[in-house]
Amino acid sequence: MTSNLSAYFSKLGYRVLAVDGDLYLPKLAFHFGIDNPAYNIHTLLKNPEMRTTDAIYHDQKTGVDILPGSPSIYDILDVDPKRMRAVVREILPRYNFTVVDSPVGIPFDTISTFVLASHQLIIIEIGRSPIHSTYRMIENEILKLQALGEAYGLQVGVMINKVRESGQRLNDLVDFIEYSIDIPVLGVVPFDYKVPEASNHGIPVVAYDPRAKASKAIASTGDRMLEWILGRRKEGTLEKIYKRIMSLFGRKRIPAGKKF
Ligand SMILES: Nc1ncnc2c1ncn2[C@@H]1O[C@H](COP(=O)(O)OP(=O)(O)OP(=O)(O)O)[C@@H](O)[C@H]1O
Ligand SMILES: [Mg+2]
Repeated sequence: MTSNLSAYFSKLGYRVLAVDGDLYLPKLAFHFGIDNPAYNIHTLLKNPEMRTTDAIYHDQKTGVDILPGSPSIYDILDVDPKRMRAVVREILPRYNFTVVDSPVGIPFDTISTFVLASHQLIIIEIGRSPIHSTYRMIENEILKLQALGEAYGLQVGVMINKVRESGQRLNDLVDFIEYSIDIPVLGVVPFDYKVPEASNHGIPVVAYDPRAKASKAIASTGDRMLEWILGRRKEGTLEKIYKRIMSLFGRKRIPAGKKF
């Protein structure tokens, strides 16, 4: 999702840097078709003398700049994740948006960069688990990440990915997150085989197939994130998004996110 949201913001004309902050299992480069980046965040963290720009790769297809991770597990052994803050701080002013991709679970690798951030997007997958375990998972994960983000003064939002269903269960879940946990749900992205197909080509799906269901939903999420982050919107966009989300959810009333 980091690759896709970054590619979408870039398509709109923003200068975007995507940083792979998942130091143990970096995958971001793979989504852009970069296989073995010789210079990467690990080499930067190990060598304070190295120039950050030497580890940044420009993706021609999307316009996104990428700071990838090292695919070698041995490179993690002697790095200090806390140095990530200095690396990100140095490069941040060159971009309109810097997206730091965090590992699944509690973001120990990237927490040092939270002081530099303004917004935290929590991406959840609901799968097909029974309803009570879904809610327990949400409470467990979202509440902890929300508390963490709020401790750093971040705005916190949620995106639900790989959704295989629509209807009441999804509506209830969105309502639960928005009204009980009180976090805006900025997007719901359906499960779509085009996403892994695009990954296999090393192109984010929004660039690989902009008409795919997932691409349209990611674009809507991106638009709502821009309103969320920048506090403004294009004329008429919100109405369109409402319509798209409504058709996705099959809802008859104004969907989640009407706080904007
Ligand atoms: N909406 C979707 N529909 C189908 N497959 C998806 C969807 N979103 C992501 N995937 C696939 O799931 C895998 C994980 O993608 P994700 O966006 O969660 O990020 P990741 O950083 O690659 O993985 P991880 O979550 O393990 O850090 C990828 O192979 C991707 O192609
Ligand atoms: Mg990841």
